[in-house]
Amino acid sequence: MPPAQDGFQEEEALGKGYDARLMRRLLQYLRPYKWYVALAILILLVASFLQVVGPWLTLIALDDVIPNGNTSLLAALAAAYIASVVLGFFLLYAQTVLTTWLGQRVMYDLRTEIFGKLQRLDLRFYDKNPVGRLMTRITSDVETLNELFSSGVVAVFGDLFTLGFILSAMLYMDWRLALITFSVLPFVVLTAFLFRMKLRNAYRDIRVRLARINAYLHERITGMMVVKLFNREEHDARRHREINQDYLEAHLRSITYYALFFPVIELFTAIALALIIWRGGATLLEGTVTVGVLAAFIQLTQRFFRPIQDLSEKYNLLQSAMASSERIFMLIDREIEIVDPPDPVPLELPVRGEIEFQNVWFAYGKDEEGDWDWVLKDVSFRAEPGQRLAIVGHTGAGKTTIISLLMRFYQPQRGRILLDGKPIDRLRLDELREHIGLVLQDVFLFSQDVAHNIRLGAQNITEDQVRQAAERIGAAPFIERLPGGYNQELGERGATLSVGERQLVSFARALAFDPQVLVLDEATSSVDSEIEAQIEKATNELMAGRTSMVIAHRLSTILGADHIVVLHQGELCEEGTHQELLEHGGLYARLHELQFARTPV
Ligand code: GTP
Ligand code: MG
Repeated sequence: MPPAQDGFQEEEALGKGYDARLMRRLLQYLRPYKWYVALAILILLVASFLQVVGPWLTLIALDDVIPNGNTSLLAALAAAYIASVVLGFFLLYAQTVLTTWLGQRVMYDLRTEIFGKLQRLDLRFYDKNPVGRLMTRITSDVETLNELFSSGVVAVFGDLFTLGFILSAMLYMDWRLALITFSVLPFVVLTAFLFRMKLRNAYRDIRVRLARINAYLHERITGMMVVKLFNREEHDARRHREINQDYLEAHLRSITYYALFFPVIELFTAIALALIIWRGGATLLEGTVTVGVLAAFIQLTQRFFRPIQDLSEKYNLLQSAMASSERIFMLIDREIEIVDPPDPVPLELPVRGEIEFQNVWFAYGKDEEGDWDWVLKDVSFRAEPGQRLAIVGHTGAGKTTIISLLMRFYQPQRGRILLDGKPIDRLRLDELREHIGLVLQDVFLFSQDVAHNIRLGAQNITEDQVRQAAERIGAAPFIERLPGGYNQELGERGATLSVGERQLVSFARALAFDPQVLVLDEATSSVDSEIEAQIEKATNELMAGRTSMVIAHRLSTILGADHIVVLHQGELCEEGTHQELLEHGGLYARLHELQFARTPV
């Protein structure tokens, strides 16, 4: 298996033993529900006690009541026996409901916390972490913790109480017979230990392989079109069969262990019973043990090994919960680089929209030698209030990166970026992003209706404003042609609209938010000439009356610009007006020649 594809593997290898620090932190999540936990433990205490009540009633019946011929008391004992069983039933019911509820509450809290963190994390984090892995965090790791809380932490008390009561009852009734039962204990413990080890590895395999199947499915489903286009169905099906087979085998292995473990424990129980009957029978004949004690012991022995079996299963649960919680906490504790400054400077309203880059250096990461892999080198430029600034350059020159820095999606390594003369890292993030409207190169629409995609749930944008924005942009005609109009649900990522239509919707979105500064990353993909004309009109509509910074791919936008900066491999090499740059005869003139000269205007 190629490790690169299965990034989960290393993570799973983190599989941990018990870690008190992690456990303490996990228990914090129970704190809001501490009274429910206390109630659950109380219920378990009573339920565990009931485990010895039956055998004890048997003892009384056989040794005291029957020999004395007290039939009415015998009926009462039988009734008490049934009552204890019925009470046990209700307690089990209450405890199951309570602990499941606890587990679900904790999961809810955890999911809320993780999602909150995901929203605050830097975009840089998302460049490195595939969707599949993050989904695993929120679903399967949280689910493991659910098991820990709903059938682990609390239920462990039940097993311990039960063991304690049974042990005490046995020792109290007859310590010699108790020792006979305990004689098989080392074998049971050894079996449980082996089972635990084997199962732990099997579980880890299962999880690794499940993650791999998920990652594979996620990618192949999203890329189904490419798969079909290049006739990769056969090849992909083969690969899927392989990892599916692996997954199946891991499951089958774990099933074998289960299939062995429970019968083996049964076997030991039977051996313990045989020993009790044999030795107990002998001592009964010698007159040192009563029939009642023997009968009670037979019942107690049958109940003795179950909690041990449970505890060994819980230990597995505990281990996977440790690994899951470690991964979840790693995510929760992850440091966020881009945060609000501790003492933010307020912007003076209304925002004038002056943007300045001062000697900005930026790299997404380091190269093999550990040096910064510069994408922007010493970039300085200025957009005056109300000006239309165009940025042009070859693909990969760093144009989109400039925008990402302006929006503070990333932090430049050197230099400063100013909005109205204030360094943007001294502004509150929401304030900065509120005043700058951004239309991205790759439009992202949500699988909700059109109106929602324009308004994005903003309370202060009315239905009317949504329509007005769509009309001014020129998106209204096509939206009204949709079967559902503004309420038409779009496919995932807006897949049911054409590329040009998606762009118009995103333009309407920017206009509806009415920002002082507009940043537009023009799409490189070409659209038909009718939509092209609409987009041109929409662009003008958007830029009217505000400072705008446009990464221009269309000649019309460039011609409409007041000032043009030319970017080449991360460096700003020329700037001026269209006419000045053409006369200069440098890179811009060449770009113009290549890209635009032949395009009809
Ligand atoms: P076009 O949109 O094609 O016209 O290019 P652009 O000028 O917008 O280029 P962009 O700013 O997107 O990228 C500049 C350089 O940074 C390119 O060499 C990219 O490969 C690189 N780059 C862009 N995004 C990332 C990123 O998230 N991580 C890393 N490591 N590199 C990136
Ligand atoms: Mg770009």
